Amino acid sequence: MANAVKDTIRQGESVLMPTYARLPLVLVKGQGAVLTDIEGKCYLDFVSGIAVNSLGHCDIQLIERLKSQSETLLHVSNLYYNLPQIELATRLVERSFADKVFFCNSGAEAVEAAIKLARKFAHELMSGERFEIISAERSFHGRTMAALSATGQTKYQHGFEPLLPGFLTVPFDNIGAIEKAITARTAAILLEPIQGEGGVRIPDLSYLSSVREICDRHGILLIFDEVQTGIGRTGDLFAYEASGITPDIMTLAKGLGGGVPIGAMLATDTVASCFQPGSHASTFGGNPLACAAGIEVLDRLTKSNALLENVRQQSAYLLSKLSELKAKTPLIKRIRGRGLMIAIDLGMDSLDVIKIGQERGILFNRTSEETLRLIPPLTITRSEIDRMLAVLSDILMEQSHVEA
Ligand SMILES: Cc1ncc(COP(=O)(O)O)c(C=O)c1O
Repeated sequence: MANAVKDTIRQGESVLMPTYARLPLVLVKGQGAVLTDIEGKCYLDFVSGIAVNSLGHCDIQLIERLKSQSETLLHVSNLYYNLPQIELATRLVERSFADKVFFCNSGAEAVEAAIKLARKFAHELMSGERFEIISAERSFHGRTMAALSATGQTKYQHGFEPLLPGFLTVPFDNIGAIEKAITARTAAILLEPIQGEGGVRIPDLSYLSSVREICDRHGILLIFDEVQTGIGRTGDLFAYEASGITPDIMTLAKGLGGGVPIGAMLATDTVASCFQPGSHASTFGGNPLACAAGIEVLDRLTKSNALLENVRQQSAYLLSKLSELKAKTPLIKRIRGRGLMIAIDLGMDSLDVIKIGQERGILFNRTSEETLRLIPPLTITRSEIDRMLAVLSDILMEQSHVEA
């Protein structure tokens, strides 16, 4: 690495809070699934900004839309109406179970809004003292205090106690555990339809519909956190579509803006009616620029079937190639995935694969020491997948020899 790059990284470390264990890589531009670093080296991106760059980098239509919106209106606040916000909400409502949308700027904020709405609903429309939210072990819902309290992984919570009261976790994909946890205080169940940060954990086919049935029986709300699974990532516009049921509240962020920060919390009319003016707000939420990005992403996913079809086809191809690779190396223990959200449990430290991958021009991501995660742009092509697989295969074969 050249001294100038080392200096840039050193400067970054001297002024940025030490909240991230960043790789020593300074990225300066992107095109499609390719990123370029400050020294001009190219990388195939199987991370897409942690499941964000749904259309790939610097998509020309997204850029055009952002240019045009930035020359028209950037921000006005929610003291007034703006056209892109209404247009994006209309598209989301037309394509989902929901009747109403609240816009914010990130996944954690969307979860925060969902928690507040569930509590308000419980307060206003449920009998008794209901406030508790049941979530799942290994879930991830974000880093703000309420989202963190709902998150079922103690490693993220350590040092920030006391957590907020009114949250409890149960094992994921375990109906009996949910039944047992419900009390007269329960207001809602909060789940990722597929756990993302927990290692791409896909529940049994009947799990989500059984949870829906339990919620209906007890008169409690079902919240789906689709911050990671939503917006085409799993091959459907929303992951809940594959379960045959609908939630009462849903959170979105990540892929919705294709790289522009935006979050959304969607709900049915009955639930949304519990928010009144002043109940919740966000200065930037539903900003015209962010909503213009969301409109472009949704248009591309819904006006034709091609992009969702690409997700499904490339997913099937990638999963089948990975199982062929699994047959060749004991270092692949398990493969899990739906759409372009795929996890590989490894018999080696996943960080080593990430580091060697970076040297060889592929960006990988991981959810834990043993689990590698593939979350490329939804536009990824077969030849790009082949290039990634060739590198992954080489790394694992070489490491198999080292381990043997
Ligand atoms: C399911 C889920 N919910 C919430 C979040 C938090 O989103 P953000 O980092 O945008 O706050 C994430 C982020 O990984 C997520 O995967």
